[in-house]
Amino acid sequence: MIQKSKRVEAFGTTIFHEINLLAAEYGAVNLGQGKPDFDGPEPVIEGAVAALRDSAHNQYADGRGLEALRIAIAQHEDSFYARQLDPDQEIIVTVGATEAIFAAILGLTDPGDEIIVFEPFYDSYVPNILMAGGIPRYCPLHPPAWDFDPDQLRSLFNAKTRAIVVNTPHNPSGKVFSPDELALIAELCLGHDVTIITDEVYEHIVFDEAVHTSMAQIPGVQDRTLRISSLGKTFNVTGWKIGWATGPAELVAGVQRARQFMSFAVAHPLQVGAVQALQLPASYYEALAAMYQAKRDRLVNALQQANLKPATPAGSYFVMADFSAVYEDDDKAFAQWLIREAGVASIPPTVFYSPPNQHIVSKQARFAFCKSDATLDEAAARLQALGQRI
Ligand SMILES: Cc1ncc(COP(=O)(O)O)c(C=O)c1O
Repeated sequence: MIQKSKRVEAFGTTIFHEINLLAAEYGAVNLGQGKPDFDGPEPVIEGAVAALRDSAHNQYADGRGLEALRIAIAQHEDSFYARQLDPDQEIIVTVGATEAIFAAILGLTDPGDEIIVFEPFYDSYVPNILMAGGIPRYCPLHPPAWDFDPDQLRSLFNAKTRAIVVNTPHNPSGKVFSPDELALIAELCLGHDVTIITDEVYEHIVFDEAVHTSMAQIPGVQDRTLRISSLGKTFNVTGWKIGWATGPAELVAGVQRARQFMSFAVAHPLQVGAVQALQLPASYYEALAAMYQAKRDRLVNALQQANLKPATPAGSYFVMADFSAVYEDDDKAFAQWLIREAGVASIPPTVFYSPPNQHIVSKQARFAFCKSDATLDEAAARLQALGQRI
């Protein structure tokens, strides 16, 4: 009998797919997936369109990424993190941050190695670790501050630990890891000779007084840190799936060895558009954070009005809200109920925890605010109408 491989047997369809289907069925305002419903900057789109019309860009690109893009990424790393990187050896372009993460796990760890992840985790980390034959070890973050117990983290490190995946600003909690937290992670990684894979796709989406510190800025661990980011989040072009990994040549070479046999090269014309994006002035990044901060406030306010107690995020474009005052069952039932009763879609966050720790968020829902003001206002009106009914 023809069967699926054991490697993927346990993976169901993603929660995003399930929620999207239900949201479409009920005509819900979809605040589930972190996918903007507005476009990226015009010069960036135009840059890609012009590249598509120029036949030079319609064939395979350099497998490491266009040289112009790697140079633009090097300039970005220098401007924001004072890192001077060699575009030939210390930067690699990938099919979104997602490919960079998977290639990093495949290229920098071996089967049987333990890899530490904070939970809630971005949904690809654990399947990636499992497909690579690794063993995930979990360090839970606890609401409302989404902090972790330093002793619990310490206890996860042992002779089998090969890597840790850090995600700051963090999806779905909106936590921005403090320099002290990052320094503790660094100290443990140094002590146990562990590689740091840091997913910083929301690096430019931070609010109020919060400051994003990159793991790659923490003294002593630069030579063991692979920093991953994505064009999609910073420039509102998630559909382009362009990401990158930066770090010491040895780590980048490991990533490249794996990814050359995954996608070989990244969409060529879109990389031309990506160069345009990274050449936007510094004011672009300030405007981006200000825009998302206003959207965050709009959504937080709407959730408060509906008694879905939100924790105001310091970064990313997600809000976690505690629904226990309005609904009794668990998060999965709540997400379905909210679609049916209010016409608003969210994501149940227990899917981002290992089974023993799912109880931590069984009364929470994740809402995305990377949406037009009109979409957020419609969601607010629907939540308010629900609040009046119950
Ligand atoms: C934490 C995190 N990492 C990675 C990704 C994926 O990035 P990309 O679309 O560039 O693959 C996302 C997208 O939601 C994310 O939230």
